[in-house]
Amino acid sequence: MSVLEVTSELYNEAEFCSTDKGNGNSISKFTFVYPNRRDAATNGIQPVLTNGLDKQNGHSVAESSSKASSVNDPEEEVEEEGSCLEEESLDWQYDENLCGEEEDDYNESGDECCTAALQKKLKQPPIKLDKDGDVVLERRRKGAIEIEHRKSTRLDAVGLQIWRGALLLGDYIMHNERKFKNSHILELGSGVGLTSIVASMYAREVICTDIDIEGLLDLLRDNVDRNAHLSNPHCRVQVSELDFKVSYQDYPRDLKNKLQDVQYVIAADVIYDDDITEAFVRTMVSLLLELPKLKAIYIALEKRYVFTLEDMDSVAPCYDYFLRYFEKRNSRFGVNRWKLINVCIDFPRYFDYDKVKDLVLLKVCHARK
Ligand SMILES: C[S@@+](CC[C@H](N)C(=O)[O-])C[C@H]1O[C@@H](n2cnc3c(N)ncnc32)[C@H](O)[C@@H]1O
Repeated sequence: MSVLEVTSELYNEAEFCSTDKGNGNSISKFTFVYPNRRDAATNGIQPVLTNGLDKQNGHSVAESSSKASSVNDPEEEVEEEGSCLEEESLDWQYDENLCGEEEDDYNESGDECCTAALQKKLKQPPIKLDKDGDVVLERRRKGAIEIEHRKSTRLDAVGLQIWRGALLLGDYIMHNERKFKNSHILELGSGVGLTSIVASMYAREVICTDIDIEGLLDLLRDNVDRNAHLSNPHCRVQVSELDFKVSYQDYPRDLKNKLQDVQYVIAADVIYDDDITEAFVRTMVSLLLELPKLKAIYIALEKRYVFTLEDMDSVAPCYDYFLRYFEKRNSRFGVNRWKLINVCIDFPRYFDYDKVKDLVLLKVCHARK
């Protein structure tokens, strides 16, 4: 068992309103602004919280995907979902359509948002004036998710903390409200539940899952209850144990039944250990094969670069391993059954965190359907 203590970088950068609970846990408030229609209309041109987004803009998706493709042979190509900034002519390819999500008849901003291209193509919404001719300023509705969590843990109990990927995925869900509205969502490796709680604001059903280590599932349940007032009143949120290392065939019947309606699988920051990565990829593959209504799997992660003497360069070994292992499983029968798409993350921040350049959002879906 690992004795290494780890701390999420999230706590260093953001001023969370955090109180010590006395049992080694803290309760933190993750404040957010609700998206409004203007965000949807402009596909994210107007960043809501600009701080981290500015940093992100310094690092385009083209840059991150070139890094991705540099570790792959041509068959391991990571597709960009929409193309940003540099490749304007290729943007507006609706990859979602290629994924057979034809019922999504609107522009799924965030997946395809490309600020430069959009600024050219879309007119800015008109400035509203009141009857006296004064500019009507929009007041953004704010909310807060309250989460009980640890601030430092052993490596095997990192689910008790909160990681940046959870907030990135939360932003993506908020920005794509129409996609997730009334949907059935499964979260893998939910940890203390922040992303599942965001999903519950829109979805019909959220199944939050993780391993049961050091009371994690009880904490997850408590956090879901603590934030029940935020969720869509029609949403059912359930917490279940789901261990990537257990094969689908061995899931309890009850869990298999629950999973039959799942349309979207989401997972944040579960790529950090090659053993867990392999088990996660096997789980993804089983879900892609077994769940009849599954449209896409969204994976948020932080690449976490390290400099190695062997490579004489900065490399992201866990991310690279994920790409290699996924490709190995994908090409197993001589043909790629699934697509891995690098989703443009040029959507606004609704949560307050540093949207660092190493954050990545991937989408996996059926290559043909
Ligand atoms: C870095 S934490 C991320 C937690 C949360 N998604 C977030 O972003 O804040 C990694 C998560 O993967 C979960 N995990 C690790 N091994 C797992 C396994 N074998 N099966 C299911 N989940 C696992 C951990 O318990 C933890 O919740």
